[in-house]
Amino acid sequence: IERGELRYEGKAKRVYATATPTEYIVEYKDDATAFNGVKKAQIGGKGAINNAITAAIYPLLEAAGIPTHFISKLSDTEQLVKAVTIVPVEVIVRNVAAGSFSKRLDIAEGTPLSRPVVEYCYKSDALGDPLINTDTAVSLGWATEDDLKRIRELALQVRDFLTPFFLARGIRLIDFKLEFGKLSSGEIVLADEISPDTCRFWDAQTNEKMDKDRFRRDLGGVEDAYAEMLRRVTQGAANQ
Ligand code: C5P
Repeated sequence: IERGELRYEGKAKRVYATATPTEYIVEYKDDATAFNGVKKAQIGGKGAINNAITAAIYPLLEAAGIPTHFISKLSDTEQLVKAVTIVPVEVIVRNVAAGSFSKRLDIAEGTPLSRPVVEYCYKSDALGDPLINTDTAVSLGWATEDDLKRIRELALQVRDFLTPFFLARGIRLIDFKLEFGKLSSGEIVLADEISPDTCRFWDAQTNEKMDKDRFRRDLGGVEDAYAEMLRRVTQGAANQ
């Protein structure tokens, strides 16, 4: 399958058209950014690792009843997906306080949340993905009330699947970000990636960070942490 016209370029991925109008190719890049693009670097092998982790997890989510855009892995850094219109609302699900939640509310990182917290941000590089609520999204025409109801339901289903999935692999899923797209039928499906770029993963034994916070916070060992996450995802629960 050959890449057609470049349709979208983000900080970590490119999306290309294909000869089939209902299918796109997503290419994962090694580029890493943090603090809304202020900090930039290449992380060697990141594109291949994030592609592999996402391509391993998405079929499991489908099998668990969560519709996604994923069709197949095409190469080390490429996957074939269903063409969607991305809903410009990023959905963050939190199990444990960390990151911007801890900062905003002055709650120590690592404080467990008594129920999952779903937050919404406007997907805008120019604005740095500001926090919004569902009224904002409906009122400005980014999604319908029904879309957002479905998105919240799917986000919590993803959380209910992934939290025990990672724990069985020795990883605490602290929080993660999802994006959703709309098929031409109007169906909402999970899109984008699930990777150490978009999730906080802490080792269940040591609480060591195994995700992009190693890059954001200059902790070192970024490549090793990403490779270890791929190993834990693909080697399965029995083999930690
Ligand atoms: O920074 P914050 O605490 O809001 O991030 C919550 C989760 O969402 C983290 O796992 C982070 O990696 C992810 N995130 C993301 N893309 C953004 C903002 C946050 O993947 N633009």
